[in-house]
Amino acid sequence: MLNRRTLLAAGGVAAGIVAVPRLLEPHTADSEAVADGGHVHVHTEPVALRQGVRPAIVPFAKPMPVAPVLKPQISNPLFEVYQLRIRKCEAEILPGLRTPVLGYEGRFVGPTIRATAGRRTYVTFANELDETTNVHLHGGHTPARHDGHPMDLIEPGRSRQYVYPNEQQGASLWYHGHGHGTEADHVYRGLQGAYVIEDRAEARLRLPSGAYDVPILLRDIEFDPAGNLVVFDNPANRDIVLANGVPQPYFRVSARKYRFRLYNTALSKYFTLSLGSGPMTVVATDGGLLSAPVQVQELELGSAERADIVVDFSKFPVGSQVVLSEATAGPILRFDVVTEERDDSRVPDVLRPLPVLPAAVRERDINLSFDFNVPIGSPPNGMINGKTFEMDRVDLTVKRGTSEIWNVHSTDPDGVHHTFHLHLVQFRVLERGGLPPQPSEAGWKDTVRIVPGEPVRIQAQFTGYTGRYLYHCHFLEHSLIGMMGQMEIVP
Ligand code: C2O
Ligand code: CU
Ligand code: CU
Repeated sequence: MLNRRTLLAAGGVAAGIVAVPRLLEPHTADSEAVADGGHVHVHTEPVALRQGVRPAIVPFAKPMPVAPVLKPQISNPLFEVYQLRIRKCEAEILPGLRTPVLGYEGRFVGPTIRATAGRRTYVTFANELDETTNVHLHGGHTPARHDGHPMDLIEPGRSRQYVYPNEQQGASLWYHGHGHGTEADHVYRGLQGAYVIEDRAEARLRLPSGAYDVPILLRDIEFDPAGNLVVFDNPANRDIVLANGVPQPYFRVSARKYRFRLYNTALSKYFTLSLGSGPMTVVATDGGLLSAPVQVQELELGSAERADIVVDFSKFPVGSQVVLSEATAGPILRFDVVTEERDDSRVPDVLRPLPVLPAAVRERDINLSFDFNVPIGSPPNGMINGKTFEMDRVDLTVKRGTSEIWNVHSTDPDGVHHTFHLHLVQFRVLERGGLPPQPSEAGWKDTVRIVPGEPVRIQAQFTGYTGRYLYHCHFLEHSLIGMMGQMEIVP
């Protein structure tokens, strides 16, 4: 029976609640019904299960791929036009094994879109899947009708054009599936890619750029002992961490500075990252540059959070190896310093001052919890302020242009971690557990870690667009079961 005890005993306390633990089975028709409940989505088509033994991962045997930068079909000073197909494809994740996945342009990690602040992009997505999906630009300041609302879907065989104004500063955003009931499944199977906004003032700082500016999407994944992809098991069982789609790759670097845009695109996970060589220099958070670079020994990133770091490999002789590790998963990526290279990039002491926030017009409490009071066999409901998400309900109204403070808590008695994400705007963390945020968390954020017993006070200014936008836990297995709310920005 699925209840609080059995769910939490499954080990999901720290990592997150399990929606419904199950493997991807060949005959899924009946077991689907259990998972359905109106929210949880898994593929219904039968999948031939591989027999045999899962190939072992050989550490540092494969290079880390860098997703290609998508070429615009039209590019002029005012706008750029892009086209992308959403497809079923295969990826070699385990050595020698083709795993069926989903991908933008047929790539398990989608192509990178590089946009410019102030120049809009028109991105047409063609849905070549046999089910509905949609696309959300995470971290984007986007008009509501282009924000990828869960009910605003692209039917199979149809296309949809999204318009992104890019009226925001340079930042490491990402695009991913956000269909009602499908987002966790689709993001897990590969519908995720980087969307980088560059701005001119940032370019003048001369941080490492071009080939030395590399997005790295980190996520976890699970395979069964035969090498089949496992979807919707306990997140704690996802013991393989992928860097740009590959487990434990190496990446050849020159002895110079690099900017790495680190993304946590895992469904429900905190990564605690460290670099074997010493501290990392954080230069940006979700929404763009910090006021000044920050040195950290450890970098914690919850699901959907990003941090840009600069690593200077010129400190190491050619032939050195520098390993990026995660606290529980161990080594996840090795940088091999292979050649000398001239470097005129720098990390200035001052990056971009953060503006003083306007006075807040109101405060709200946002409580994240679960409702286990559900029929036997159903997953629990996720709740925000005691309510499970409903498409037609507006949970709160915000006057456009005003600034608000939200106090976000994890209130489940068993102490569950979350990440909290706000659509439309970038916010600032005022306090974590009653204390000022660490400098590495003091910049622009759209997603923040929520740890039990450590309420987080954030402030946002709701400028720009009116309409309905989401806020939710970005443990996608939590938002999937309803830990999501809807705000309406009104004139
Ligand atoms: Cu990454 Cu509702 O979003
Ligand atoms: Cu978002
Ligand atoms: Cu959550």
